Order: sequence, then structure tokens, then C-alpha cells
Amino acid sequence: MARITASVYTSHVPAVGAALDLGKTAEPYWQPVFKGYEFSKQWLKDQKPDVIFLVYNDHANAFSLDIIPTFAIGTAPEFAVADEGWGPRPVPKVIGHPKLAGHIAQSVIQDDFDLTIVNKMDVDHGLTVPMSLMCGQPQAWPCPVIPFAVNVVQYPVPSGRRCYMLGKAIRKAIESYDEPLNVQIWGTGGMSHQLQGPRAGLINKEFDTAFLDRLIADPEGLSAMPHIDYVREAGSEGIELVMWLIARGAMSDVNGGKPPTVRHRFYHVPASNTAVGHLILENN
Ligand code: DHB
Ligand code: FE
Repeated sequence: MARITASVYTSHVPAVGAALDLGKTAEPYWQPVFKGYEFSKQWLKDQKPDVIFLVYNDHANAFSLDIIPTFAIGTAPEFAVADEGWGPRPVPKVIGHPKLAGHIAQSVIQDDFDLTIVNKMDVDHGLTVPMSLMCGQPQAWPCPVIPFAVNVVQYPVPSGRRCYMLGKAIRKAIESYDEPLNVQIWGTGGMSHQLQGPRAGLINKEFDTAFLDRLIADPEGLSAMPHIDYVREAGSEGIELVMWLIARGAMSDVNGGKPPTVRHRFYHVPASNTAVGHLILENN
């Protein structure tokens, strides 16, 4: 049986990827950001996951206004790095896990969640920046990754509650896979930020801190928070945080097990326009 051993949560600021790619990580502005992930890089090396199920959002790179899937699972053997306007980032391509992804699609769709099956998809900073933060600059990513894209760009976006319930269905799917795989689930994006309009630059540390507290201790209650609260409190792009509830819903305690251990917690402003938040939870 495959098992979810841990969940990882992190922001995906594109300028963080650029800082890494251009050798600027030691600059005073960026140094504190990367320092917050030093523990995490060693932790990931020690954990040696077999597969990472990575929940992220595409920013109109693989998808466009032509077709807007709410939830899309990447079932391909590999995924190229998207060109977001400056050429693809110089990072490894992503190796998928078609067999496990196909199994999850089968289970989750039969569990009443409508997933779009994606057999060809370039992955943008929503996926590659979390990989870079957690892995540094390797020749190849340490394990296969199943990209799971959520629409948080074009309204209507899914509710926190639906994301949380989907996490439960994903856990059930993974635990019914007949191979002893060590699987991690990552929830990415957020925290507070707004990139547009009169409130551009918005950061809300109080909201972000409470979100982290509740994600750890009261995910069920947090999942009931309506969409408008994200936008009002965390800014128009703060809605990316609903993706964290998918990863949290897949943890054992939600499904009758013991509470997870908080292995690492980090929060930092400034990093581009976004409050960087990061959490590692281990199942017990
Ligand atoms: C920034 C943050 C994002 O989540 C994103 O998708 C693009 C830009 C930023 O902070 O600049
Ligand atoms: Fe984003």
C-alpha cells in the first residue's frame, strides 16, 4: 500500500526562481528567504519520497481562457518547463508517474470529483519554484512528481471546503495503490498578495499567521472560510491558499489518525510582492 508520509506547504514567488537561476541567493534581500528553506532541503533528502503529489496553479501558461479546468491531474511520463516569457527556467524537466496518477484519477473521479486528465502540459513557476526551494539546483529532480493544477486564476474558483474534501479523496486513492510507495503531498501558492489594482502590494501578516495556526490545528474550521474572506484579507492572489487545504485534507488526522508533527514553520516578508509562508507536517 502507498502511504502519504508528510505534507509540505510553500509560496511560489517567481522572482525566487529568478534569484536562484541568476545566482543571487546570497544577496541581502534574498538570503533570509533561502535560509528559511535550508532545513527543508536536508529534510527532503532524508525523507527520500518515492513520489511527490504537487498541488499548484498554472498562471495562464499551460492553460488559457480557452479551456479552464478547475482540477487537472498530470498523467504524462514527463512535463516540460514552461516558457513564461523569458525562456524556460534552467531547471530539470519533471518526470511524472503515469501509473499512480492514473490510479488516483480513477479513484477520485469515482469518488465524485471531476478531474481533467492532462497528457501534455508544461509546468510553470507554480510548480518549479517550490521544487527549487525544496531541492536547490540538482541535475534531475529527486523523484517523480504528479502535477495537480487547480484553477485559482479565473472565476469561479473552487471553495476551500471542496479542496479539503478533495484532499480526503486523494488520500483514499493513494492508500489504495498496491505498491509500498512513500508519497508526499505538497500544497503551494499564497500567502497574502495582490498583484493588481489599487491594493497591489497588499500583505496581511495577521491573516497569514492565523491561517498557518488554523491549518495546523483546525483545518476543518478553516476549510469553511468563504472565498470572499481570502480576497478581502489576503488580496486577490491570496486565493491561491485554498490549494493548501487539498494537501491538509490528505493528512491522517483528518481521516481519524493522530495529529501531525509540525517539523518546520517559516514566514518572511518581503519577497517580491508576496508574503512567503512555509510549513512541513509529518504524519504520525
Ligand atoms: C508574484 C507572486 C505570484 O504568486 C505569482 O504567481 C506571480 C508573481 C509576486 O510576488 O511577484
Ligand atoms: Fe501565483
